[in-house]
Amino acid sequence: MKQTKEVIIFGGGVIGLMIARELAKRKIGQICIVEKGAVGMGSSWAAAGMLSPDCESLEKDGFYGLCKASLSLYPALAEELRSETGIDIELDLKGSLKVAHSQQEAAVLTETVKNQNKAGIRAELVKSQSLKEFEPALSDQVSLVAFYPEDGVVENRRLVAALRRSCLDLNVDIKEHCLAEGLSANNLGKPNQTFVVRLRNGPEIEAKKIVIAAGAWSGEFLAHENRDIQFKPIRGQMLSYRVRNLELGHIIQSEECYLVYRRDRRLLVGSTSEDVGFKKAVTAEALSRLRESAEALIPALKSIVPNEAWAGLRPKFAKGEPLIGPLGNIQDVLVATGHYRNGILLAPITAKIISDCFDGNALVYNQFLPHDIRIGLGGKLIAAA
Ligand code: GLY
Repeated sequence: MKQTKEVIIFGGGVIGLMIARELAKRKIGQICIVEKGAVGMGSSWAAAGMLSPDCESLEKDGFYGLCKASLSLYPALAEELRSETGIDIELDLKGSLKVAHSQQEAAVLTETVKNQNKAGIRAELVKSQSLKEFEPALSDQVSLVAFYPEDGVVENRRLVAALRRSCLDLNVDIKEHCLAEGLSANNLGKPNQTFVVRLRNGPEIEAKKIVIAAGAWSGEFLAHENRDIQFKPIRGQMLSYRVRNLELGHIIQSEECYLVYRRDRRLLVGSTSEDVGFKKAVTAEALSRLRESAEALIPALKSIVPNEAWAGLRPKFAKGEPLIGPLGNIQDVLVATGHYRNGILLAPITAKIISDCFDGNALVYNQFLPHDIRIGLGGKLIAAA
């Protein structure tokens, strides 16, 4: 039997869940998430949870502003989720470090920090003499470190668990392991326009609005003839150690890898960036390179064997900036995808922007959306924006 909802969100990763929760809190109407796997178990689970816009930016452009705005929403979100669900998302805003090994890297890092400061980004250089107080486990071979005091980290797996719980408590209809097989529109362009989705293992659902938040799989819904502007999965391989006598106070990034310490004494090492399609397997070669890079930063890791390895698929579109807002002139189709390396960081602001679109006063962030993008499913086009 056909079900009727106000909104269908395609994709139950951190972006889809965060949007669903925000819409449900604003009492927009019945929200339904359609997820082909289990919610939060794709890229959102694979991520490291880094919230590090300062470390990764050279100027205060629009994208930087979006990242900082999203980061500023995290403290209140962490509190709300804790009181709604009892789950602590382990938000730490103790800053991040960028490390230089060689003299040449140190010169580049010095110049980077100078330019970041000029642009108004907070960054400080820490000389090797003070490093032991700052981050005791770091290698003596590290010659210079830049400290970004406003960056932080969140436990992304706890975040998606909390969002899922919160959504269920808000009566969001979460349809897991449901593959969307068909999408069609009724009365397209008319005031009574609706969208109908056919699920392989579920009912047909009709809704007034749809949100495409399908991460690396967004290309199944949105297509363009030009191959250069396709949605692409970019694989990131990671590994983790169980550490006993070792703790890191900050996220650490080098040219080769990044390290993220978890309160349950896991130390995560990431990540590759590989254009290999939807292959989610890890490779021995990449893991061995990650391990080598991590040991160069933290020599104590040489005596430990990583106990877990995994890969995720980042959703990249064009140059890697996200698409957040309505799909051109097709009313009531919203996109929230293409977050590439910043899905966890940008989830709160994405949910705010998409929900503001429902209230009719949104700042949109889809200036990178090309013309002639088509919406459909399973090769069946329903409209072009
Ligand atoms: N944000 C880190 C990564 O994508 O690897």
